[in-house]
Amino acid sequence: MYFPAMTLLSSLLLSLGFVHASPLSRDTGKASLTISTKINTVGASQLVEKERARIQSLKYASHDDSSGSGSFNVSNRVIFYTAEVGVGTPSTSRTLLVDTGSSNTWVGASQPYVATNSSVNTGNSVSVTYGSGAFYGEEWLDTVTLTSDLVIDKQSIGVASGVFGVNGFDGILGLGPVDLTQNSVNNTFEVPTVTDNLYAQRKISQQVIGIFFSPASESDNSGELVFGGYDKSVMTSPVRYVPLTTMTPAAHYWGINQSISYGETTVLSSTAGIVDTGTTLIYIASDAFQRYQSLTGATLDPMTRLLTITSAQYAKLQTLTFNIGGISYGLTPNAQIWPRSLNDVMGLNTSAIYLVINDIGYPSGSGFDFANGYSFLQRFYSVFDTTNQRVGFAETVHTKSSSN
Ligand SMILES: *[C@@H]1O[C@H](CO)[C@@H](O)[C@H](O)[C@H]1NC(C)=O
Ligand SMILES: *[C@@H]1O[C@H](CO)[C@@H](O)[C@H](O)[C@H]1NC(C)=O
Ligand SMILES: *[C@@H]1O[C@H](CO)[C@@H](O)[C@H](O)[C@H]1NC(C)=O
Ligand SMILES: *[C@@H]1O[C@H](CO)[C@@H](O)[C@H](O)[C@H]1NC(C)=O
Ligand SMILES: *[C@@H]1O[C@H](CO)[C@@H](O)[C@H](O)[C@H]1NC(C)=O
Repeated sequence: MYFPAMTLLSSLLLSLGFVHASPLSRDTGKASLTISTKINTVGASQLVEKERARIQSLKYASHDDSSGSGSFNVSNRVIFYTAEVGVGTPSTSRTLLVDTGSSNTWVGASQPYVATNSSVNTGNSVSVTYGSGAFYGEEWLDTVTLTSDLVIDKQSIGVASGVFGVNGFDGILGLGPVDLTQNSVNNTFEVPTVTDNLYAQRKISQQVIGIFFSPASESDNSGELVFGGYDKSVMTSPVRYVPLTTMTPAAHYWGINQSISYGETTVLSSTAGIVDTGTTLIYIASDAFQRYQSLTGATLDPMTRLLTITSAQYAKLQTLTFNIGGISYGLTPNAQIWPRSLNDVMGLNTSAIYLVINDIGYPSGSGFDFANGYSFLQRFYSVFDTTNQRVGFAETVHTKSSSN
């Protein structure tokens, strides 16, 4: 393996991930940006705890201030994605966290912001909390350069003067729905997102983002973020869409309805939850999780809180099917296990088999009963369509591949 020895509290760049030479930039109205996949080697012992805290913070965030929000730092993610984004004229390059679960774009956590001739201070203050992580500062308008084809004029960005719980990146590229920006900037109802402005400035022809990840254990660990469409060249099926859910609190995010079956048995009846690039595993309501555990015969490892199975149980593992908008998306046995090649770097037992399905920590019926994280998104291309208020998925070469 090419993984260096584990270093605590640092992130390991798995790949610089130069995108294969697909001619996207020549298509009109869309362009792609490389996403780097990083593994935060704080290790698996805290993975589940931290992810549950993030899900709690999303579930309660902004919509009910009296509810306790989870203690989640923005940089606590075990797997996270960053993109290099230019800010200002001339631009300085900044490493931003790619986040579909928040919508303000901001900079300045690790690299001072220097006003250039395209920078305009709005005079408004900005503050956003992410569970226990947060930033505050001033809101500026500036030129944001995503690629040579995607240059946004007068993008509203936060310039941090104080940050908490941020480590390993300079700020966030907020790809969530614009509603999540409400109450973040003084004298401002909503802050147009980068996707909103790309569309308003006719840089993209539809307000659509396409996200493609390679499974983290394969030699190509890159991801690709497309603005204005999606990349057909990596798909092996058409994109099928489902409307965004109307059930709250999932409806505040990229929320959908889905049901889940293991083999022929329903483990989760149709309910609402979210699709989230900021979650590593797949979390389902506690009652559904218990059904899955009993059907697979898996054991809960008390150290990591991950389910483990024996080789004999793996041999009998059945497909876990996500029914979304009448379409079945099957996770093969291979797709249900944590890549064995990553056990070492995560501090897991290298001879054990861990499952990627985990317990969200509360029963179904909450309006936020699942989070389809990276373990799902590395198997299905995802399309986030603001224009038509829907999410789409397509199969890729990774859907049924053996990645470990
Ligand atoms: C801003 O600065 C850049 C590079 O220094 C220059 O090319 C550009 O013309 C300037 N723009 C304005 C409006 O002054
Ligand atoms: C969040 O980060 C801050 C430092 O930025 C740290 O003091 C705190 O313990 C962290 N909280 C969690 C839950 O990791
Ligand atoms: C912005 O709003 C916050 C919260 O109401 C307030 O504390 C702060 O003083 C305001 N800042 C400005 C510049 O108005
Ligand atoms: C999602 O599920 C809820 C609850 O069953 C239902 O009210 C709603 O119509 C469904 N569809 C959408 C698009 O929200
Ligand atoms: C690691 O997993 C193997 C296979 O399940 C098991 O036999 C062994 O006892 C485990 N080692 C530790 C240290 O838990």
